Amino acid sequence: MRNTVLSAHKGTGSKEKVAFYNSWAESYEEDVAMLEYRAPFLAAECIASHFTREKERAVILDVACGTGLVSRNLKKMGFCHFVGVDGSEKMLSLAKETGLYQELKHCMLCEDPLPVQDELYDVVVIVGALSDGNVAVEIIKELWHATKPGGYVCMTTRGNVDNLEYKAELERVIQAMEEEKKWSRVAVSVVDEWEKAVSEHECGYIPGVVYLYQKAF
Ligand SMILES: C[S@@+](CC[C@H](N)C(=O)[O-])C[C@H]1O[C@@H](n2cnc3c(N)ncnc32)[C@H](O)[C@@H]1O
Repeated sequence: MRNTVLSAHKGTGSKEKVAFYNSWAESYEEDVAMLEYRAPFLAAECIASHFTREKERAVILDVACGTGLVSRNLKKMGFCHFVGVDGSEKMLSLAKETGLYQELKHCMLCEDPLPVQDELYDVVVIVGALSDGNVAVEIIKELWHATKPGGYVCMTTRGNVDNLEYKAELERVIQAMEEEKKWSRVAVSVVDEWEKAVSEHECGYIPGVVYLYQKAF
């Protein structure tokens, strides 16, 4: 399991990365449970605690949805309408089996345009995919476009040594968009025990961050 997770963190081309996720899909949930991966719950909790409108009516775009862990957590917190996007066919077919999603779309993020209508979603969420070797930071602008004015964008990243450069770049882009008044900060939550460490030079738990921003009206 340790080597599998290290492969997920490794920098490869996006085609290789998605092929890797296809091969991991069947045992993904079991493996991340062993890792005490809490990002889907933490992101859902952050969204649910700041979302001020009727949750039952909100439409959520779950980007890099994987097997559906984020939407599953959001469902438990009162949200009902989900659209999922992912580059892995195998992940998408497992997400379909959950019966949670109204629509599931295949997309190679940052290569193909996000296959959704602009300004339609009350919440756009991306969990576990913004990190070195996964989805490039440029995707954030597309997430912003898909969000309704006044809607929310929720993002997560890891804060371990191997991902610090990526995290700094992510925060630079987030802040630049804040300065351009594209969105405003709602919550940034640093979590020390994000998930168990897997690399040789880390032990215990690695930290992570949930970012929640509200798109300008
Ligand atoms: C670690 S999983 C996270 C899944 C889910 N959000 C969760 O938290 O359990 C990362 C997901 O991102 C997808 N992914 C990674 N790189 C991608 C890319 N370039 N285009 C589309 N999907 C990608 C993978 O297929 C995988 O389902």
